[in-house]
Amino acid sequence: MKKLVLSLLITLPAFAASPKHWVTVDSQILGKLAPMQKALMVEKEGNGVSLIQLSDEEIDKLSSAIHNELHRCGGFISHDSEAEALLAFVPRGDMHFAMKGVFSDHDIDQQELVEPMVKQVSAKNIEKQIREMSNFHNRYYTADTGSDSQNFVMKTWKSLSNSRSDIKVDLFKHSKFPQPSVVMTIEGSDYPNEIIIMGGHADSIAGGWFGGPKSRAPGADDNASGISTLTEAMRIALANNFKPKRTIMFMAYAAEEVGLLGSKDIASTFKSQGKNVVGVLQYDMTLRKGTANKDIVMMTDYTNTAQNEFIGRLIDEYVKVPWGYSKCGYGCSDHASWTNNGFPASIPFESTMEDINHAIHTDKDTIETAGGNADHAAKFAKLAIAYMVELAN
Ligand code: BES
Ligand code: ZN
Repeated sequence: MKKLVLSLLITLPAFAASPKHWVTVDSQILGKLAPMQKALMVEKEGNGVSLIQLSDEEIDKLSSAIHNELHRCGGFISHDSEAEALLAFVPRGDMHFAMKGVFSDHDIDQQELVEPMVKQVSAKNIEKQIREMSNFHNRYYTADTGSDSQNFVMKTWKSLSNSRSDIKVDLFKHSKFPQPSVVMTIEGSDYPNEIIIMGGHADSIAGGWFGGPKSRAPGADDNASGISTLTEAMRIALANNFKPKRTIMFMAYAAEEVGLLGSKDIASTFKSQGKNVVGVLQYDMTLRKGTANKDIVMMTDYTNTAQNEFIGRLIDEYVKVPWGYSKCGYGCSDHASWTNNGFPASIPFESTMEDINHAIHTDKDTIETAGGNADHAAKFAKLAIAYMVELAN
């Protein structure tokens, strides 16, 4: 702890000199930084969040200090504007606020389609896809291998969609950084304007936050697992010639690990285009079973309560494993980008927050350190099939 305060103190004059970004930090981080509060110029406080202004360089320092000294991740969000930062102060509790009404409940009545598909889930397929993604040196958002790996995801998804004219696979290019996101769209036959989004981030990071484009970052659990789990659900849906009534979009987001950049760009574009997103499912870490009595754990913060309850019912109906709730305590993944833009999002996660995989963001984030197989992820592939079919039809 001493080390952290020291390293931040040394760089403080620079901190105050060129404020650029509006950054909100959570109460745990601020508590640790208590001696710094005055120097950091806290602009606003409330709801366990404090607002400070930092330059790029200072954000780098703060990131690595949090990671290296506090042995945790995140705990702060960098915002594009003061107005956006101030949204972090809207009381959200467990998201019982404006977002709650947005998810309209659905009957669970697609057993004839879902049950046979769920039986086709193969943990081996998921494992193979995770290994292929982990073989890229890293999938860092500014590294060449970060773009190569996205081309690999696009190629995989294209090969699954083969000749269907109602399916397209595109890159979503981001103007501020080189790594693209990948998007598969299956156009709905009856209600094409109602969109269901199933996504996860495809980038990886290691060596502390901003570990850079050179570090080895296999990112097997975080988050080759989420992409590979969704890819298995996609494979099965397409092998069974599933034709959804609503539009389904699979997304492999770029640059999540450096502040949800890819999903923020996409979600704000969707909002400004007035798109009607009826549900967002986020998969970020499905590989390692960390909690004894809960297989699937839904984060209650930055998520939609009604949709979380719907997903709970889907698990009972089709996956039949124990599930529960936990909290990230901050906008820990791309679901927060969707929530912040007013869309109903959920993140079924591999464990509770207390039991997280400590190998993530290091060169040890491999299948081997996460249990050696993709059996846990297979449960999430079943849930993804159930979610896709029940919501789309
Ligand atoms: N997969 C993690 C999020 C996560 C980690 C959720 C552990 C639950 C438990 C994600 O890739 C990540 O690292 N997110 C960042 C925050 C983001 C705003 C950059 C983090 O948690 O540090
Ligand atoms: Zn991560």
